[in-house]
Amino acid sequence: MAEHLSQSELDYPFKLLEYFNGFRVSKVIFSACELGVFDLLLGAPGPLSARHVAHELRTSVDGMERLLDALVGMEVLEVEPAEGTGEGEDSSDVANLYLARGSSKSLHHMMTYQNQTVYPLWTHLGDAVREGRNQNEKTFGLQPEDPFQAVYRSDDEEMLKFMGLMDSSWILDGHDIATAFDLSCFQKIVDLGGCTGALAREMAKAYPSSSVSVLDLPTVVDAAKKYFSRENDDVVFHSGDFFLGDVPPADLYVLARIVHDWPEEKCLSLLRKLHDTCRPGGGVLLVEAMLLETRRGPLMAQIFSLNMLVQMEGRERPPSGYTRLLNDAGFHDVQVCRTGKSYDAILAVR
Ligand SMILES: C[S@@+](CC[C@H](N)C(=O)[O-])C[C@H]1O[C@@H](n2cnc3c(N)ncnc32)[C@H](O)[C@@H]1O
Repeated sequence: MAEHLSQSELDYPFKLLEYFNGFRVSKVIFSACELGVFDLLLGAPGPLSARHVAHELRTSVDGMERLLDALVGMEVLEVEPAEGTGEGEDSSDVANLYLARGSSKSLHHMMTYQNQTVYPLWTHLGDAVREGRNQNEKTFGLQPEDPFQAVYRSDDEEMLKFMGLMDSSWILDGHDIATAFDLSCFQKIVDLGGCTGALAREMAKAYPSSSVSVLDLPTVVDAAKKYFSRENDDVVFHSGDFFLGDVPPADLYVLARIVHDWPEEKCLSLLRKLHDTCRPGGGVLLVEAMLLETRRGPLMAQIFSLNMLVQMEGRERPPSGYTRLLNDAGFHDVQVCRTGKSYDAILAVR
C-alpha cells in the first residue's frame, strides 16, 4: 500500500487523519440535524447567535457554540453579522436546501437513518468481515430469516425511517435514472420493491404515456399509501411478494436497489421469473451503485457494498457482474449507463 501513497502523505498522513475523523464529521451534521439547528436557522429572519440557538433548542451554550463552530469549519454554516449581537450563524444555501426538514429537497430522513440504524450496524464492521455475514443479530438482537424482517423490525417507526431513506435518494437521482435510457417504448412499467413510489413517480413524469405501478410487501404498500401518497398520484400500488407467486405482467420491470440486497441464487431466480413473465422485447432495468470493472472505485459504491455485507445478504457489482446475471436469466442486449451520481442504470431486453 505504501507504494501508492504520495510523498507528501508519507511526510504527514493528511488523508489518513481525515479518514480517521470521518465518523465524527458525520456525527456533527447528524446531531445538528436531530437537535433542529438547520430548521431553526431556516425559519429565522436573520443570523442567530450561538446563545440564541442554544436557548431555543434547550442545549448548553458551550456545547452549541462548539457544534456551530464545527459546522462553520465544515462550510455547512456561515458566520454573518447578526443584528445587535455581533456575530451570528446563518445556514448556507446547501444547508437550507438539503438539511432543513421543511425543504422540498430535504435529506433529513437519510441522515436520521444513517445516524440511528447504519451507524450502530457499522460498529460491527470488523465482525461482518470476519464472519462474512450481516450483523443484525449483534446490533439489534434479531435473528431474522430475511434481512427485511430486521429492516422492518418491531414497529412502524423503523419501517417509516427506512422508507424515508429510500424516498430521499430519488430526490437527488430520480430524474437521471428515469432518463438514463429512452424508456418510452415500454407501455407498462412495474417497479418491483418500489417502496414509497418515489422512483416510479419520476418514471411516470418522464413517460406520461406509460402506466407505472409499484409492487411491494403488503405492510410497505399500506404505509406508502398512508404516509407517502401524493395528490393526483399517477402511480398504482400492488401488494405482493416478488419471490413468492406471480408478478404483475409488464413491458418493463424496474429493480432499483433490489439485486444488491440478495444472494446470487435469489437474484437469479427472480430475474428468471421476470424473463418468463415478460414478452419478447420487454425488459428489465436494474438500478444500482455500480463498481468499476476493476472494483477500484467509486469509493461510494465500495462503501455501499460493505453496507450490504453489514446489513443485508448481497453486494454491489461491476458491469460484468450484472451482465452475467442478466444473461444467465435469459436477457440480452445489456446496456449500462453511469450517471456520475450515486446510482447507475442497466437495461436489458428479453
Ligand atoms: C433496498 S429497498 C429499495 C426500494 C426502492 N426500490 C428504492 O430503490 O428506493 C428494497 C425494497 O424491496 C422490498 N422488498 C423486500 N422483499 C420483498 C419481497 N419479497 N417482495 C416485494 N418487495 C420486497 C422492500 O420492502 C423495499 O421496499
